Amino acid sequence: MFESDVEDVAQRSSTGLLPAQDDVGDLVARAHARYGGLDEGTVADYIPVLAGADPSWFGVSLCGADGAVHDAGDSGIAFSIQSISKAFVFALVCEAIGHEVVHDIVGVNNTGLPFNSVMAIELNGGSPMNPMVNAGAIATTALVPGASAEDKWQAIQAGLSRFAGRALDVDDEVYRSESGTNQRNRAIARLLESYGRLGHDPLEIVDVYTRQCALSVTARDLAVMGATLAAGGMNPLTGEQVVAAEVCRDTLAVLASCGLYERTGEWMFEIGLPAKSGVSGGIVAVVPGKGALGAFSPPLDAAGNSVRGQRACAYLSRALGLNLFASARPGQEGPSS
Ligand code: DON
Repeated sequence: MFESDVEDVAQRSSTGLLPAQDDVGDLVARAHARYGGLDEGTVADYIPVLAGADPSWFGVSLCGADGAVHDAGDSGIAFSIQSISKAFVFALVCEAIGHEVVHDIVGVNNTGLPFNSVMAIELNGGSPMNPMVNAGAIATTALVPGASAEDKWQAIQAGLSRFAGRALDVDDEVYRSESGTNQRNRAIARLLESYGRLGHDPLEIVDVYTRQCALSVTARDLAVMGATLAAGGMNPLTGEQVVAAEVCRDTLAVLASCGLYERTGEWMFEIGLPAKSGVSGGIVAVVPGKGALGAFSPPLDAAGNSVRGQRACAYLSRALGLNLFASARPGQEGPSS
């Protein structure tokens, strides 16, 4: 699917540094121009307010591990972070309680099933399987330190704001819209509770999870948040150490296996980067040591991943030498090294 899209773009190897700044800015602008007219995919409507998104919105942003930011298109338009929050809440929980505990309670393997699958829980004896599907994300939110749901929420909002380098607020309209229609997530939480996997009131945890999904971000925020994971946990804009480097490693490993749900294999095959998508149309793709891409465009594929966002990432992965699996013979790494 993506290969034919970029076959005219020379494949750079992933070794070395990003190309010179002028080239990066130019390629981000080209990625945006190349796919702005692409008319594929469907805007999510199972959360009613999301159906009102303009399908033409399209923003691309790249933040280097050195803090240099390049934007194109609608990279300043705010949208709800949705499932992309799962990656950063997972990182906060790993930081707080250690990766073994999260591994044992939540798991790290792909379900091969849609993000809101109930069957995946049943097929796996009550295990939520991984923190990127709704079951695992709800179980992860329950593990956030804090005696009350409100304490957990405060920790999440503050933690995700540190990743973004600015105070993130909840989009109340999205929060209310999802709260009125999230029966399936409530059922998932009740099912986890029935397997003894939650340790907290299920409806309170779903409420916190719904609020975290309604945090308002831009494509640029996503690039900065991802670049923090790329830079060993240090936010490249604020200089704050948000989480430990080991936590970034663990988070990126989970994104590499589960970040785009049942499409993660295809994504890794074509783009070769740990990434996370969300139903409002955001994608963050992380390049360890180099930086991150943030993309936003509401029309989605059948698995819930932004169509234009995926294409822009595929183009930039190739043109900037970001694919982690693209090596070259020593001395022949090409202009990006
Ligand atoms: O729980 C939900 O269904 C949404 N708050 C988030 C789902 C989502 O973003 C899936 N991503 N593609």
